[in-house]
Amino acid sequence: MNLDALVVYENIHQCVTLSGVAAKKGRHVTEADLGVISQAAVVANSETSQIVWVGKSNDLPTQYQSIVNRFSCDGEVWLPELVECHTHLIFAGDRSHDFALRSKGKTYSEIAAEGGGILTTLSHTRKASFEELMESAEIEINRFQKLGVGTIEIKSGYGLSLESELRILKCIQILQQRVPVQLVPTFMPAHAIPPEYKGRSEDYVKVVCEEWIPEVANSGLANYFDVFIEEGYFSVNQAEKLCLAAQDHGLQLKIHADQFKSLGGTSLAVRLNAQSVDHLDHISKEDIKVLSGSHTVAVLCPGASLFTGTPYAPARDLIDSGARVALTTDFNPGTCPSRNLPLMTTLACTQMKMTVAEAIAGVTYNAAAALGLENQIGSLEAGKQFRVCQIKAQSYEALPYCFGELE
Ligand code: NIG
Ligand code: FE
Repeated sequence: MNLDALVVYENIHQCVTLSGVAAKKGRHVTEADLGVISQAAVVANSETSQIVWVGKSNDLPTQYQSIVNRFSCDGEVWLPELVECHTHLIFAGDRSHDFALRSKGKTYSEIAAEGGGILTTLSHTRKASFEELMESAEIEINRFQKLGVGTIEIKSGYGLSLESELRILKCIQILQQRVPVQLVPTFMPAHAIPPEYKGRSEDYVKVVCEEWIPEVANSGLANYFDVFIEEGYFSVNQAEKLCLAAQDHGLQLKIHADQFKSLGGTSLAVRLNAQSVDHLDHISKEDIKVLSGSHTVAVLCPGASLFTGTPYAPARDLIDSGARVALTTDFNPGTCPSRNLPLMTTLACTQMKMTVAEAIAGVTYNAAAALGLENQIGSLEAGKQFRVCQIKAQSYEALPYCFGELE
C-alpha cells in the first residue's frame, strides 16, 4: 500500500460506523448496532477513496502513526454519507395548485382523475428544454448534497414517450459528470398512462414491454425499472408483465406499492425479488409477513404522507417482523417537494415510532441496500467508500433532532 496516499482523521468526537447494522444486514437494528466510536480515527486512501481503518484514536495501529497527512476533527460527528434511494428529481413546473385543491378536501386520486397530478408535470416536462431540465435538476441535487446526501436514485417518469424518457435518462447521465454525488438511474415509464394511450393501458404496457424496455436497456442509461401499482395507474397483472420484460433485459426492479390502496404489489415485488418496494402506507398484514424475511427492502416515504395528509406506513410492524426498512423523501412535485432527508428521520421517529437508530440505518445502510450498494456505501468500515457526512453536534442523535436543519 502506498503510505503517501493515506490520510488520518483523528479525534472525531463520534464516528457512527453502523458496523452492527451491516453485520445484521439491516434487520432488527438496535442502538448498539450503530457501532458508535467516540474519540475515533479513520484512515482513508485518497487514491482509491476507500476506508482503510476505523477505530479509537488511541488504538491507531503503529504502521499508520507516521503518516503525515493528518487532520484533527474535534467536535465533529461522522456518519456515512446519507443515501437518498427514491426520487423523481427531473421535472419542470410545480404542483402548488394540486396542493391548494387538497387543502379544500380533494384527494390525490380525485385530482389525478380530473387531469391534474402526474399528467400536469408531464406536460410541463415535455415542453421544457434539455438545458432547463438539467439546470433545475442540478440545483435540486445540490440541495440534497447540502443536507448530507452522497448518493441519489433518480427515476424518469414525467416524459412517458420513448423520446422524452430517454431525454430524462440522458440528463441523469450528463449530470453524473457534473456533480460529486453518485447518481443511480431508474427507468419508470409505468408512472402513469400517458395521454396518447388514454383508455388503452394494455396497448401502453405492450409497447413499453416490446419496444421501450429493450431500447432503454440497450442504451445503458438505466440500472433499475420501476412501476406505480395503484388504481387508475397499473394493475398487479400489468406490473408483472412490465417487470418480467425489464428483468429479461437486465434491469433490476423497484416497485411503488400500497401507497393509497393495498392491491398486492408487495407480494409481486417479493416474488420477483425486487430490490425494493416503496411507500407501503396501506400494506396488508399478509404482505407484511411476505416481505418480512425477504431480500426486498421496504422503502418508506413519510414526507409524502405528511404532504398529502394520508396515513403513514406501519414502520413498527415492518421492522418488528424483520423487514429491512429504509427512508426516503420520495422527492417529486406532487406528493413530496422536499429534499430534506434528515427531516424524514424526524418524521420517522415522531410519526412512525421508529427509534433514532432505526431512522439512521434507514437513511444510510438500508437505503444503500435499497439500491444494492450496501457493500460499497452506507456504513463506515474498512473496504467501504470514504463517503462521510460530517456534522457539528454533541451527538449523532442530532440528525433526527435537528428537524431538518442539519449543519
Ligand atoms: O411516489 N406514486 C407515484 N409517484 C409519486 C408521485 C408523483 C406525482 O404525483 O407527481 C410518488 O409519490
Ligand atoms: Fe415515488
